[in-house]
Amino acid sequence: MLFQFPYAMNIETTADGSPTLYVPELDEHYHSTKGALTESRHIFIEMGLRQSTAPCPHVLEVGFGTGLNAFLTLLDADKSRRPVCYTGIELHPVQTTTLRALDYPALICPGRTDDFYRLHEAPWETDVALTPHFTLRKVQADFTTWTPDETYDVVYFDAFAPEKQPSMWAGPLFDRLYASLSEGGILTTYCAKGIVRRMLQAAGFHVERLPGPPGGKREILRAVKTI
Ligand SMILES: C[S@@+](CC[C@H](N)C(=O)[O-])C[C@H]1O[C@@H](n2cnc3c(N)ncnc32)[C@H](O)[C@@H]1O
Repeated sequence: MLFQFPYAMNIETTADGSPTLYVPELDEHYHSTKGALTESRHIFIEMGLRQSTAPCPHVLEVGFGTGLNAFLTLLDADKSRRPVCYTGIELHPVQTTTLRALDYPALICPGRTDDFYRLHEAPWETDVALTPHFTLRKVQADFTTWTPDETYDVVYFDAFAPEKQPSMWAGPLFDRLYASLSEGGILTTYCAKGIVRRMLQAAGFHVERLPGPPGGKREILRAVKTI
């Protein structure tokens, strides 16, 4: 389906009480309606970041969006004192008024509100050390034509669903991600569809189906680059 940016966005409350964005034009949410915060913590932090054995993981997020995954990663990096370099790709940055209305810090960690907004205020295409354990580089680019120029240890693959934006879920893009991952590198995604699993396998990944977040999807995917 083709859609035009800028599109309208509404704020909706998901089943765990955390908000997300809904795009009527796409009939698509930014996160699971069964629990935005629960989904992010489970799929990207628990099943992705924390499974990486890299001493200083380099994380790539496809679809930076509201910065929820980045904020959770920043908090986790500071808590564990394991430094993270974080690259977030986003073609259509979310507007500040929308971020303020979502107000994720109030729900997650009010004492770190400033850090949430610093994620969004950080300049694009530049490495910014936001905390002693978290360095961010935001890249404003179209993921479908972007060429990774670094090696990553963890990929949070958080694009809109394949049936809404199939161009983001193409075999050659997973081939490119595979090539840019370190040995033992991990890609996690909420989408457990067979067609996605087969594309990841064709790219060379060892793919596992894992239990989804509590109250949410039955299964998610984790793909590992094993050599
Ligand atoms: C499911 S949402 C991501 C949610 C995000 N991870 C968060 O925590 O808020 C998908 C994101 O992909 C972005 N996107 C759509 N097309 C893109 C493209 N071609 N390249 C990069 N980002 C794109 C959207 O603007 C949106 O922010």
